[in-house]
Amino acid sequence: MCGIVGYLGNKNTKEILLSGLKELEYRGYDSAGIAVLQDGELINHKAVGKLVNLEEKTKNFVTDKFAVGIGHTRWATHGKPTELNAHPHLGESSYVVHNGIIENYAELKQELQNDGVKFLSQTDTEVIVHQFEKNLLKCNNEFEAFSKTISELNGAYATLIITASLPDTIFFAKHGSPMLVGTNDEDEKFFASSDSPLIGLAKEVNYFEDGDYGYVTKDELVIFDKDSKKVKPNFSKLSTDKLSAQKDGYRFFMEKEIYEQSDVIADTLIGRLSDEEIIFDEIDKNLFDGINEIKLCACGTSYHSALSASYMFERYSKIRCSVEIASEFRYRSPIMTKDTLFVVISQSGETADTLETLKMAKRAGLKTLVICNVDNSSMVRGADNCILTRAGIEKGVASTKAFATQVTVFWMLSLYVAKLKKSLTTDELKYQIQLLREVPLATKVSDDMHERIKRLSKRYLHGHGFFFIGRDIFFPLALEGALKLKEISYLHAEGYPSGEMKHGPIALADPELFTIALLPEHLLYEKSKSNVEELSARDSTICAISSLDFDKADDFIKINSCKDYMLEFFEMMIVVQLLSLEISVRLGNDVDMPRNLAKSVTVE
Ligand code: M6R
Repeated sequence: MCGIVGYLGNKNTKEILLSGLKELEYRGYDSAGIAVLQDGELINHKAVGKLVNLEEKTKNFVTDKFAVGIGHTRWATHGKPTELNAHPHLGESSYVVHNGIIENYAELKQELQNDGVKFLSQTDTEVIVHQFEKNLLKCNNEFEAFSKTISELNGAYATLIITASLPDTIFFAKHGSPMLVGTNDEDEKFFASSDSPLIGLAKEVNYFEDGDYGYVTKDELVIFDKDSKKVKPNFSKLSTDKLSAQKDGYRFFMEKEIYEQSDVIADTLIGRLSDEEIIFDEIDKNLFDGINEIKLCACGTSYHSALSASYMFERYSKIRCSVEIASEFRYRSPIMTKDTLFVVISQSGETADTLETLKMAKRAGLKTLVICNVDNSSMVRGADNCILTRAGIEKGVASTKAFATQVTVFWMLSLYVAKLKKSLTTDELKYQIQLLREVPLATKVSDDMHERIKRLSKRYLHGHGFFFIGRDIFFPLALEGALKLKEISYLHAEGYPSGEMKHGPIALADPELFTIALLPEHLLYEKSKSNVEELSARDSTICAISSLDFDKADDFIKINSCKDYMLEFFEMMIVVQLLSLEISVRLGNDVDMPRNLAKSVTVE
């Protein structure tokens, strides 16, 4: 996820920008850059990869007097992670940094190119600086040009611009992506996309509202709101705790990551959907030629996303799909045939067992694909093809947003294959793509829902076990719900196919057995309901999750009514994640670092 910093003042601008970017490293990035305007001269440095590369490039760059500067860490979406695509982007004599997406960038770019403007990058961001300079020629002053530019952008943004003709000013605008400005007794001004870069530097901060724009100089902070009305800054004191600042006000990284899912799924989708097809420019066009089966291999949560994928591949793409637990697969002399595409799935890209299965598949001469969240990880480097999930760095040991983005990628990939194999009609494909566009909304956490789950959680702190049950693609979600709960609450939980309970586990049913029942309205509702009724009749305590009221449940969590079961899947995913979180919080456990677990399992 991209990060923004900005500075205006007399201190060491380069150091302030670089250390600000360091504070944002945890969000994940693949290139970085800064631009500084000092003594009338605009200087810019960019580097691909980690910040040490940018530090190396700027080691002889001295900033020891009044200056304005902006910096950025970029997580590639439009265009590859290259220096040219890294921010800040240059016009003739101005630089811009930007987080978010400019939805109408293609139209603006076309118009600018018709006017003879040359673009250096493949990013949507670059249009902002060229549009600003185009407006400069027509407007009375820089601020008028900036305001006009902002009014011409559609989409989500937090952006800063500096320009050579106003060497004491930084322009800012915020709409849909977070940004704040801070100041202190020395009249320095600091910008960032989250609190942590400002801690220890700014005394008080103003969090911009959507639609805010304006400028800062040494003496002024001028803010206009979305209706272009001048508004007073609304300053508040800044926390002094960096770790809590990185959590953006959430109690735990896991909680923050649950809330982030809507945004990161939107990032996962960016540039990959058109009305009638899925676009994966990053994979070989011929990847599926001669492929009759897909084999998915992973561990833990990634295994659960793979299981959910097997339902989608067989249902939408009509291709045989099998799923393997990596630690089992590697020692069981598996049969590997060359008409199988071997896919490994991993948040970290470093899980030892999964990595080994990738090597086995390569030795056997299979085509390989990795679905991964960490660029340049061992698996990404090892596989022939890679799709990045774009979840941003996941800090909570209990995986949440990685799972959400993996399922999203698999859904897209199953449609990509469906198009190749013509297994869905054009209308069916369009419908599925429209559903995908609705996932960010389905994964927005509502305060009411969170409150309800918080209240209910107190009833689920004991008992002799939990069964999360679901049918079809809700079975892998049940497995994932149970894994989340056991990881962070240390309570025993199992995921089970609803229809399988009567073949054994139902013997455990009593009031101290908690059943968390996934009851989607649009997939096998009646069948699932009667499975739950069987458990209810045997006095198991039932917590049902559904959009349809269910009177056989002791507790009921109502999700929004959705038009398709895939949207219900994502709505229920949020519920099971929050339920685990709140149970763990009540039990007083360390949610982010549960006992005995590591984020990246690099040993067998
Ligand atoms: O990095 P990976 O996705 O390969 O990790 C696999 C598992 O170790 C991981 O999903 C683990 O199960 C998580 N703690 C789940 O929350």
